Amino acid sequence: MTDSRQSPIEISKDDFKKTGYQLVDAISNFIDSIHEKPVTTGESPKQIQQLLGSASLPEHGTTVAEIIAKSSDLLLEHSLLNGHPKFFGYITSSPTPIGALADFLAAAVNPNVGANILSPMATAIEKQTVKWLAEFIGVSPASGGILVSGGNMANFTAFLAARTAKAPKSLKEDGLANTAGEMVFYCSKATHTWIEKAAVLFGHGTKAIRWIATDADNKMNTEILLQTINDDLKNGKKPFLVIGNAGDVSTGVVDNLSAIATICKAHDLWFHIDGAYGIPAAIIPGNKKLFEGIQEADSIALDPHKWLYAPLEAGCTLVKNPQHLIDTYSSHPAYYNFSSHEDEPSLNYYEFGFQNSRGFRALKVWMALQQAGKNGYIEMIGDDIALAQLLFEEAKKHLELEAVTQNLSITTFRYVPSGYVHREKESQEYLNRLNENLLNRLQEAGEVFLSNAVIADNYCLRACIVNFRTSEKDIHEVIEIVVREGRKVHETLQRK
Ligand SMILES: Cc1ncc(COP(=O)(O)O)c(C=O)c1O
Repeated sequence: MTDSRQSPIEISKDDFKKTGYQLVDAISNFIDSIHEKPVTTGESPKQIQQLLGSASLPEHGTTVAEIIAKSSDLLLEHSLLNGHPKFFGYITSSPTPIGALADFLAAAVNPNVGANILSPMATAIEKQTVKWLAEFIGVSPASGGILVSGGNMANFTAFLAARTAKAPKSLKEDGLANTAGEMVFYCSKATHTWIEKAAVLFGHGTKAIRWIATDADNKMNTEILLQTINDDLKNGKKPFLVIGNAGDVSTGVVDNLSAIATICKAHDLWFHIDGAYGIPAAIIPGNKKLFEGIQEADSIALDPHKWLYAPLEAGCTLVKNPQHLIDTYSSHPAYYNFSSHEDEPSLNYYEFGFQNSRGFRALKVWMALQQAGKNGYIEMIGDDIALAQLLFEEAKKHLELEAVTQNLSITTFRYVPSGYVHREKESQEYLNRLNENLLNRLQEAGEVFLSNAVIADNYCLRACIVNFRTSEKDIHEVIEIVVREGRKVHETLQRK
């Protein structure tokens, strides 16, 4: 080895610039023309595998220019485009272009945001991001929190903090098996599957979940909640946590959060809100009443990679009293020298959650919040809701569509062939089959990407608009596409 090491992974300044500019050119063209492309190419896993090839691990290196060109082609030409204006599937947003630049910058600096000493500026930026997110949804800016990978992790992070706060102090050492009384927790039937993963992961088992029935509006029935808590107490169980939804995953319903908060207060239970999808809508002035009660929450999960349009991955756990996170996650191994400065304690994010080494997820959120500002987000989120409402109204007007639900930016509807009597069970089954086939056809064809919801046993098409590129024209076109393809699927099924 000479004094100046020639590493096979280094890129010279000139090559970095040249290939970097080429990549930026390719990405800017991709973003600029995204609306002209299909949402998905519909290529099968086999076709994708063929494009990728089946070479074994390369023995020798390849030039950066070649790798960048090949990777760009594979990804830009053969991906499902959630940045497309007609992508309304699941809850994945169009990603902010500034988020792509942020991830580039974050990867170049590569701060380890586990400890302040390893990431002084990044830690300060994450702290400011958390504060801004609290301000965004209208809870105390004194709340603390941490950026995580997404909704599951944001909810897990809060779940364990809730348990630490409400369980006997000895639980951390003794474990659940040696703690008296089964710890149980409550959520509505509409709650996302993260709760089952949490029950398994943290050793409670899924039987400890109390699935509370929903009312006619699909909100948690708080009378049944109260009754179930009382029954559990009578039976020697240890209730510790209630989860309210602020935008349930299927249809976007916001639970009666203030009623849940009151019950939690009366029974000394931790109140957690899963706002992974919907809570950014609390920024809309007209939504104040809908989100009443969020200030009472002990913790909130919200996902910048959903309705703040951050590129994957970015979730956030907000906690009213951040000490609960430290009580849950902090440890001080001898091999860490992350202690405080003389005059102020260090903010070390490894003490706030599951990860020790942590990437700089906050940057893409922080940069986008500055680019659009609060008013920009009010406009974008408001427009998404208005577009989902337009879709609902258009479906309602159309003789071959049935508008089913509309909450926040989620609309569900289904195709019903004209003159079709759909009261009998047989007809329901047929309509379910028809709409499932229709969804599959739409997802493969790539004109629009919808997902599904099953509502009162009816298979529905579901559009979740967390997409700052969607326009009214897209909504009208989606109606035409769904009806046109619905007719074709109906014809095919009738022939069979
Ligand atoms: C309400 C809600 N909670 C949690 C999640 C899980 O989020 P993630 O997929 O980012 O882990 C989702 C995902 O759609 C959701 O809608």
